[in-house]
Parts: sequence; structure tokens; C-alpha cells
Amino acid sequence: MVLSTTVLAGDGVGPEVTDEAVRVLQKVAEVFGHELKLVRKDVGGAALRSAKDPLPTDTLQSCLNSGAVLLGAVGGPSFDEFPPHLRPETGLLRLRRELGVFANLRPAICFPALEECSPLKPEIIRGSDMLIVRELLAGIYFGEPRSTQGPAGDRVAIDTMRYREPEIERVARVAFELARNRRRIVTSVDKANVLDCSRLWREVTTRVSRDYPDVKLNHAYVDSMAMALVAKPADFDVVLTENMFGDILSDQAGGLVGSLGMLASASIGGPVGLYEPIHGSAPDIAGQGIANPLGTILSAAMMLRHSFKLKNEAHSIEAAVTEVLNAGHRTRDLAKGGKKALSTREMGSKVVEAIKKSAA
Ligand code: IPM
Ligand code: MN
Repeated sequence: MVLSTTVLAGDGVGPEVTDEAVRVLQKVAEVFGHELKLVRKDVGGAALRSAKDPLPTDTLQSCLNSGAVLLGAVGGPSFDEFPPHLRPETGLLRLRRELGVFANLRPAICFPALEECSPLKPEIIRGSDMLIVRELLAGIYFGEPRSTQGPAGDRVAIDTMRYREPEIERVARVAFELARNRRRIVTSVDKANVLDCSRLWREVTTRVSRDYPDVKLNHAYVDSMAMALVAKPADFDVVLTENMFGDILSDQAGGLVGSLGMLASASIGGPVGLYEPIHGSAPDIAGQGIANPLGTILSAAMMLRHSFKLKNEAHSIEAAVTEVLNAGHRTRDLAKGGKKALSTREMGSKVVEAIKKSAA
């Protein structure tokens, strides 16, 4: 099979971590007899520098012509003062919209070997394995009107949270479908005691749930969910929520399972899927070769599973990551109790070796 992929390394640690994911993909392609066809393009701040546009036409075209897109990260402090349409993040949001990827899957798993990395007691974090399904193309991220107006000192800023019923329904269906292959519990998170969008969200998710009588639907307010995630993370299976709540809760989940650097994501629902780690550009450690590449490597596994329907290949990456962690290998974010910290490159090599070994 030809695996045609556009790689958007982006900013900060993006290039370092995508390099390792690409090496892993190359090894998997070799072992399973596929051809990896890569095109590299600029996005975010990198594209602002090269083309004065955070999502150049040429980049978007390449993505639309690919089987899948693998992205590192966008953003950085040097762009903080740029106008909104010239921010790296705007490029990513436009890319998500152009690709039509309305469902963002963010698994947060506590690997047994990493129990000690969680700030929670081992008996509380143990067994945590949740899948956050975040709505990605609507809500306050995209609602109009939005503006900042008025005289200095008395300006007014407006953002609009907006949801249409079909936008809620389609992502809810993704969550229920995925729950069928898991523990069959969906926790839908909203703020229905205050927000109209959330009341509509609750109504629509409840209606959709009738088509999935084998899946249990629970509702939770986002504030109480933030607490429950810390108190009893292992209780949750699929967590379904709107765009901004999902952004916040997924970083929290990353903290819970030991490191945001471990978290992968898949954005699906359109013709071309987008795969990215959720840690962001990490400007404080960029260029040092110490970032954890496992979130990106696991995103590559999600890409094989969701876009190329290559279950065994995806599994080979996930098994290799588990094995490397079980063997005690750690990047700096995970190196607790005097364990040696591997570089980004060394960690990538460990995963590549584990794939090679299991194929032999
Ligand atoms: C994420 C990021 C993005 C988001 C930013 C970079 C626009 O935080 O993917 O979680 O808010 O969606
Ligand atoms: Mn985020």
C-alpha cells in the first residue's frame, strides 16, 4: 500500500518530534511492505516566515491531496503580538476547517510503567484509559461575531459560542460508535446549568444515545468533571465534549497520566485525517533535542489505524512504545527517581529497534 502523507513539522519542538515519528513510520513501512510517500510543507510560524501566511495554499493543497497529515506543533512567543489572522494558531484552525475534521480523538492512557509519573497516587491513576472526543470545528473557536472594539482603556472584546444541532449530532455519533469498541460508557460534558449551547448539546446527545441502547450515557457539568478527573480518572471511558472544554480537559488528562508529551490525537470526519501530539510547540525546550517524541509517534499509529485502516501496523507501534517504557526508557519529562533521560532521537531509536525486533 502507498501511504501518502504530508508532514507539517511546524514550530518549536515540532520538527524534532515529527522526525522521530517519520523514522518510526519508515520502519513500519519497511517491515510490513508498504511504500511511505512523504511531502514536507510549512505551517504556522514556519510558514509565516517562509510565505507570510500560516497556511499557504501550497501546504493546504498538499494536505488535501494526501491520504493523511502528520503535524508537529504550531506557535511560539515570537508571534504573540501578531494580528489574529497572522498567528500560527490561525493556520492550524484553518487547516482543521478546510479538512473538515470535526471529531478530535484524544486518548489519555496511563501506561502501567508510567504510574509513578502521575502526580496522583498510583492506586487512583492505575488503569486509567479514557478517550476524549472533542468537537473541533464549532463552538467558541469559530463562532461569529468576534471582535475587539472601542477606545483604549474602554475596549470590549466579544467571542461567540455557537452550535448547530447537526454539529453536535455528528460528533456524538463518533463518540458512541467508538464506545462500542471500548467499555460502552459515554460521559458527555457540558455547562447546561448556564449555557444555551450546552442545553442544546445535552438534548442532542441524549437523542443520539437512543440509537445506541448498548452504550450508557452520563452527563457531567464541566466544573464537576474537572474535579472528577482528578478524583477518579479510571472511571471514565469515552468523554464527549465541545471544542473549548475539550481543549482544557485534554491537557488536564495529559497531566494526570504523567506527561502531556505522551498524548496523541487524531482529527477525523473529513476526507483527510490530521494527526498531531497535543503538547504544543514547547518553546522552552525547543531545539535542545530533549522533547518526548512518543505523543507524535503514537499519533502516527492513530494515522495508520484511522486513515489507512492498518490495524496491525498501528498496533506494532503501540506495542513498541509499551515495550520501550516497560524496559525503563524515559525522556526528561518522564525520568523520575534518578532514571537516565534519553534524548528525543534516542527515544525514537528505541521504538524503531523494538519494531524491528518484534518483526524478526
Ligand atoms: C490544541 C491546541 C490548539 C487548540 C491551539 C494551538 C490552536 O491547544 O490542539 O489543543 O486550542 O485547539
Ligand atoms: Mn490545547
